[in-house]
Amino acid sequence: MASLTLDGLTKSYGDVAVVKSVSLEVRDGEFLVLLGPSGCGKTTTLRMIAGFVPPSGGSIRIGDQDITRLPPWKRNAGLVFQSYALFPHMTVAQNVAFGLEMRKAARSEVGPRVAEALRLVRLDGYGERYPRQLSGGQQQRVALARALVIRPDVLLLDEPLSNLDAKLRLQVRLEIRALQQQTGLTTATARSAKSARNRICMSVPLTCSSPILSAALP
Ligand SMILES: Nc1ncnc2c1ncn2[C@@H]1O[C@H](COP(=O)(O)OP(=O)(O)O)[C@@H](O)[C@H]1O
Ligand SMILES: [Mg+2]
Repeated sequence: MASLTLDGLTKSYGDVAVVKSVSLEVRDGEFLVLLGPSGCGKTTTLRMIAGFVPPSGGSIRIGDQDITRLPPWKRNAGLVFQSYALFPHMTVAQNVAFGLEMRKAARSEVGPRVAEALRLVRLDGYGERYPRQLSGGQQQRVALARALVIRPDVLLLDEPLSNLDAKLRLQVRLEIRALQQQTGLTTATARSAKSARNRICMSVPLTCSSPILSAALP
């Protein structure tokens, strides 16, 4: 477990800065909400932390390690994509194992670790199914297991409630909160400003200098 620190993190496409000098710290075990309207740079920020989008400026640290230039599989950050991004041709177990294989985990370790992650999200016994054989809520739990299986230092969730119907939202919100408390994981989650009142945040960032990314107060 570790803290997450963004320092002047910036992303520009051409002349347009879509994330402008974001500085914040999520302390060890805290839950931070990146709150803002659609298009304000939440997804881009999470993808920079996970290593899928190279920053144009600034730095990212997990604990004391500067990870700004590391490829995704060398950072201990697990990202749950807004659309889940499951591989349709792979089983649940293969989807969850993917991150471990990218990290060259020992073959003997993969099975038990996948089982452990599926247990954490209450999907024991679903390993042989394909994503199309699951409900939306179950697909999201697979995406969550895929992030957790690497035993991340930092868990990143991109609008985890946005694809769920109203009834599931409350349940998933409580489940994510319980999971975060149970694991003590340092967590950053993006939330659209429209649903700001339904927040699950439990902590605030120390500093947030960007005008477009605001942080939710507990
Ligand atoms: N690959 C890209 N090329 C150009 N512009 C992009 C790219 N990715 C995102 N953007 C732009 O960056 C802005 C922020 O996008 P995003 O991070 O997805 O916002 P949010 O997740 O807060 O809705 C948007 O205006 C979007 O159009
Ligand atoms: Mg987004």
